Amino acid sequence: MTTAEQAVVTGRTIVAVSERLVLTRPQEGDAEAMFAIHGDPETNRYNPDGPQRDIAQAREQLAGFVADWPRDGVGYCMVSTREEPEVVIGVAGLFLHSLDGEPVFNLYYRFRPSAWGKGYAAEACRAAMAEALPRFPGIPVTALIREDNLPSRRLAGRLGLVADPDGRVDHEDRLIHRMA
Ligand SMILES: CC(C)(COP(=O)(O)OP(=O)(O)OC[C@H]1O[C@@H](n2cnc3c(N)ncnc32)[C@H](O)[C@@H]1OP(=O)(O)O)[C@@H](O)C(=O)NCCC(=O)NCCS
Repeated sequence: MTTAEQAVVTGRTIVAVSERLVLTRPQEGDAEAMFAIHGDPETNRYNPDGPQRDIAQAREQLAGFVADWPRDGVGYCMVSTREEPEVVIGVAGLFLHSLDGEPVFNLYYRFRPSAWGKGYAAEACRAAMAEALPRFPGIPVTALIREDNLPSRRLAGRLGLVADPDGRVDHEDRLIHRMA
């Protein structure tokens, strides 16, 4: 399926297409998909706030994700396989923000457990970075990860991010990782 055909099939704005995946801008109708991912205890094992409790929380988070794009020209993406572009399997991408006064990208990834162990998260992150980083030269990629979230730290490592050598953490005690 070509990118144009996918856009017609899903009615979504495509951000990037990789070998197996399609990344699209989040949109208002994604609340249920967001809740399926963010309301699952498995995907929030290392999140001190725990899973989202109801779809209202997912809607609120989604509204933030949707608003990032027109404001910043970049943001988190909904991820689907090219085979099933209408099924969201995860969220991944870059959020432009300020960390200790420095403009940085926060790299984010959260996938349905059924999509783990296939290299999808790594593939989606690489596609998001390849699309966005040339448009924002000089902005470093960072990720905030709990020390005990080993799956996430492994993925960050595979993508070329390393933990701060001095063990610097953010206000939620997450280790600051940075693209080497
Ligand atoms: C973090 C998270 C996205 C990692 O998912 P993942 O599927 O392990 O990550 P990757 O996409 O890098 O896939 C790597 C795995 O796929 C396997 N794999 C299978 N086919 C593959 C392929 N074609 N290409 C690459 N890897 C492949 C790898 O061997 C590896 O498995 P292993 O870890 O058992 O060795 C997932 O655990 C998650 O969503 N966690 C909950 C949310 C979360 O904690 N987010 C981070 C907050 S800081």
